[in-house]
Amino acid sequence: MERLAGKVALVTGSARGIGKVIAMTFAGEGADVVVNDIRASEAEKTAQEIKQLGHKAIAITADVSNKEQVKNMMQSAMQQLGKLDILVNNAGTPGRATLLDMSEEVWDRVVDVNLKGVFLCTQAIAPHMIERKYGKILNISSIEGMGGSAKSSSNYTAAKAGVIQMTKTHARELGAYGINVNCVCPGGIITEGTFNGRSPEAVEKHKANVVEHACLARLGDAREIASLVLFLVSDESSYVTAQNIACDGGRFDRM
Ligand SMILES: NC(=O)c1ccc[n+]([C@@H]2O[C@H](COP(=O)([O-])OP(=O)(O)OC[C@H]3O[C@@H](n4cnc5c(N)ncnc54)[C@H](O)[C@@H]3O)[C@@H](O)[C@H]2O)c1
Repeated sequence: MERLAGKVALVTGSARGIGKVIAMTFAGEGADVVVNDIRASEAEKTAQEIKQLGHKAIAITADVSNKEQVKNMMQSAMQQLGKLDILVNNAGTPGRATLLDMSEEVWDRVVDVNLKGVFLCTQAIAPHMIERKYGKILNISSIEGMGGSAKSSSNYTAAKAGVIQMTKTHARELGAYGINVNCVCPGGIITEGTFNGRSPEAVEKHKANVVEHACLARLGDAREIASLVLFLVSDESSYVTAQNIACDGGRFDRM
């Protein structure tokens, strides 16, 4: 039995990286999927790959930090696929600036995408889920939202910490309508995003740091995030809500 048979899921930022693996995993378990991203051609490619698994998939280009674009995305998704059962707020962008170097523009962009984007997408989908008395919302934060970051990216850590707290409030607001809201904090997964704004040397240093600090002493794989997310949006976890779970190989530098 497929674990998401008959369900429709929207995964933000799913053109590539962890979001893409989540979208593909959902399709592998029977879901129709909306692939959202700001990268139009990569999103279209992911949607095509999902269709090859035998499920419906549409790509919608929208910036999650733009209220109008988010509203249009939800309307278009529901018109084309009939309903939305699952929302994964995965879209994110890294901080990569120190306190003294950070411009207001960089602060705003990172907080807008990582924090406001979760609010806007959740607010836009909530009336539909409330009406149907069913919904699964899964927010992707970061272990840096739990333990902070060693040297920089206060915009990113603040936004990701906000996502963890927002998860709990939304879970309380929506729980009575049969809607579960949970959060997953990845750490140590090498994706295209890992290279964003980092030199190859810095990436190698980052990898070594992960291996040194993870109880499991290795990097993670996006499929290991996707399998936890799958559990949390499936009916197998129907009595789990308002939770935040790290999936990071057990990083003792955040414990
Ligand atoms: N890779 C890790 O180890 C790690 C660790 C902690 C948290 N995360 C989080 O996991 C999520 C996925 O990260 P990833 O490593 O796959 O990164 P990634 O950069 O490979 O993927 C992120 C995707 O989000 C999209 N995106 C960015 N801004 C957007 C916007 N405004 N609207 C819509 N889409 C947008 C990007 O185009 C990209 O396709 C992010 O929220 C990230 O912060 C990742």
